[in-house]
Amino acid sequence: MKKWFGLLLICCCLNSFSQNVIIPAPVSVQSAPGYFVFDPTTYLLGTDFRSYMDGFVIKDYLIKYYNLPLKTATKKIGDGKIITLKYDSTIAVGNGGYFINITKENITITGKNEGGVLYGLLTMMQMIEKSGNNTFQIPCGTVEDYPRFEYRGMHLDCARHFFDVDFIKKYIDYLALYKMNSFHWHLTDDQGWRIEIKQYPKLTEIGAWRSGSMVGHYRDQQYDTIRYGGFYTQKQIKEIVKYANERHITVIPEIEMPGHCLAALAAYPELGCVADTTYTVAKGWGVFDEAFCPKEETFVFLQNVLDEVMALFPSQYIHIGGDEVEKIRWKNCSHCQQLIKDNNLVDEHGLQNYFIHRIDNYVTSKGRKIIGWDEILEGGITPNATIMSWRGEDGAIAAAQQNHYAIMTPGSYCYFDYYQGAPLLEPLAIGGFVTLEKVYQFNPIPAALTADQAKYILGAQGNLWTEYINYPENVEYMLLPRLLALSEVVWSPLEKRNFDDFSRRLVFHFGLLDKTGTNYAKSVYQVNYRITQTEPGADLLLELIGNKQFGDIHVTTISGINGAKNAFVYTQPFKLETNIAFVSANMVAGVKNPPVTNIKIQQNTATGKKIIIKNEPSKKYSGDGPVTLVNGIEATVTPNWSGNEWLGFSGTDLEVIIDLGAIDTINSVTVGFLYDKMSWIYPPQSMEIYVSDNQRNFQKAGQTKINSTQKRVAVKINSSITTGRYIKIIAPNYGLIPSGNPGSGSKAWLFTDEISIQ
Ligand code: ACM
Ligand code: ZN
Repeated sequence: MKKWFGLLLICCCLNSFSQNVIIPAPVSVQSAPGYFVFDPTTYLLGTDFRSYMDGFVIKDYLIKYYNLPLKTATKKIGDGKIITLKYDSTIAVGNGGYFINITKENITITGKNEGGVLYGLLTMMQMIEKSGNNTFQIPCGTVEDYPRFEYRGMHLDCARHFFDVDFIKKYIDYLALYKMNSFHWHLTDDQGWRIEIKQYPKLTEIGAWRSGSMVGHYRDQQYDTIRYGGFYTQKQIKEIVKYANERHITVIPEIEMPGHCLAALAAYPELGCVADTTYTVAKGWGVFDEAFCPKEETFVFLQNVLDEVMALFPSQYIHIGGDEVEKIRWKNCSHCQQLIKDNNLVDEHGLQNYFIHRIDNYVTSKGRKIIGWDEILEGGITPNATIMSWRGEDGAIAAAQQNHYAIMTPGSYCYFDYYQGAPLLEPLAIGGFVTLEKVYQFNPIPAALTADQAKYILGAQGNLWTEYINYPENVEYMLLPRLLALSEVVWSPLEKRNFDDFSRRLVFHFGLLDKTGTNYAKSVYQVNYRITQTEPGADLLLELIGNKQFGDIHVTTISGINGAKNAFVYTQPFKLETNIAFVSANMVAGVKNPPVTNIKIQQNTATGKKIIIKNEPSKKYSGDGPVTLVNGIEATVTPNWSGNEWLGFSGTDLEVIIDLGAIDTINSVTVGFLYDKMSWIYPPQSMEIYVSDNQRNFQKAGQTKINSTQKRVAVKINSSITTGRYIKIIAPNYGLIPSGNPGSGSKAWLFTDEISIQ
């Protein structure tokens, strides 16, 4: 019996088209001998209107990506080689699925329902091999395929930055290529209202424009004064909805309420809580205090807006936002407070629920359904709402447990505005860290759900917020290749997922994207590193980490003494010799200009020495352990301080002792501190140094005051002390954050990095 199973397994492997490059991985691919060879007579035969239109879409892609022109027809053309396209709802395959049958003579693609034929064509396209200069073939065989989830979404924020119609179409093309079927279009926010509403022209005359934008990172609070804006006319929106529909993509518009509404209030201030005030379209990022005031005239306004929106977007779902609603205006508004009393609401959270409930009723009365961010669970879920879970998975779990539908888009897997590689090698981003592999590891079904509850998880979505993404090339960079990983998450069977194999297939897709000059990220080729010790004070070991699917890691070290170079292929962690000043590493990748990791080593008396830390840093900011402070690498502040080189202490002091191993000369001690008041991080106000020969009797050797913005702080050692073995550094936490600042009244964080001793 055992043997028989073994044989079966071998047969399957031989039969499967094991080296295919298809993304997302299909359910089943079986190969047969021979090839279907394209010739000048080959054409796409659409046997019904929809499959004919699918043929039209793929025809464009075949030219763009393969330079392979094909005719399309609705009737047989002479003796030409036929690729037959048809829909047949009776075929035995999952919803949205298809069969492909490839013989030497012809190809047949049968889609079960909406989208099936196009998905089959997209798979067929990825199976095409170049057999000569301008000759193409496809290996014979069959494909059976269908999606794991019915909702396969990608979002784009066009409020923080505006992208024109041509680029939106390009974006939709990327989604279509990877079998996504929902485009969540974020059209309104504090920084701009981007959809023409005929009944309220000021929404775009005023609300679509701001008088400047944030430059650099939010923490720096810097702005330019350049007028910025734009909006989509209703005619353009219809064009985009049609374009998406041709690619079996539903466009789901998002109209934000009751928060994220500053641009609307700038146009119609009477919809806010504060009388006789003016609002301006926000220039900066963040969450603002303003919310729509739940007056009758506000509901009339929103219903009129939604009427026009629903007329433009035939989607079943209308996204009404609902996230990050500050309650302060409602707290101070007599109308809001009266409404809370009259309706026996508990508080402002109840008012949020009242607000969403009314909008839910209205949208439902029009035969549509609302989607809201998970905050709309506050005060109880409204009857017909679908939850989009972004603050982790809890929102979706709560919804599914109450028999409500949910879409997964947790920040830690699905936020494509987060960094996808080492911040030093990446364009400025909001923060966070969502690598390609992290996206790939996502399973949209939370373990907490029963099989019955899991049916309420419609699927997953990637979110692309654009505070730091201002041009189409930057959108492409953040979207790709993470979109490909997500497509496999939402399409392919869980048991088929394998990141190594995905990485192998990815290289082919980079080649496709190169054909259209797409600015995809090459972060997956980055070499990351860790510096460790087998025990405190032992040799520093440099470990290089890269995706082995992309080949070897090539290393060059440069000596700081004579500049001598040593180049080798990395095999295992190696000793960071005391003369090494610089290490560079990169993968020999299948792409042009792979990213290069450059590591500058600042060797000094403290480097690699034993270090004893009195207070543990916070787990989240513990770097590679205490050695982080003496590993020779100075942490960076720009473009982002995230990364492995900072140790962060929540409210506690920095107190460390460095054991030099033997008495040595000391002239000065320098320590790095971080200042980022937006993140509650303050340097200490002073630092003291003590020196001892025996770790018992410490002598004070120097001290300094620290101003708030100082990055590296040096203390000169008293001239009476020239040598020592143990160096103690004490830098008390800043203390309570002063009023008027984020986090005021709370204890500050203390972030520190490299300690150098000269
Ligand atoms: C969100 O990221 N505020 C939904
Ligand atoms: Zn109010």
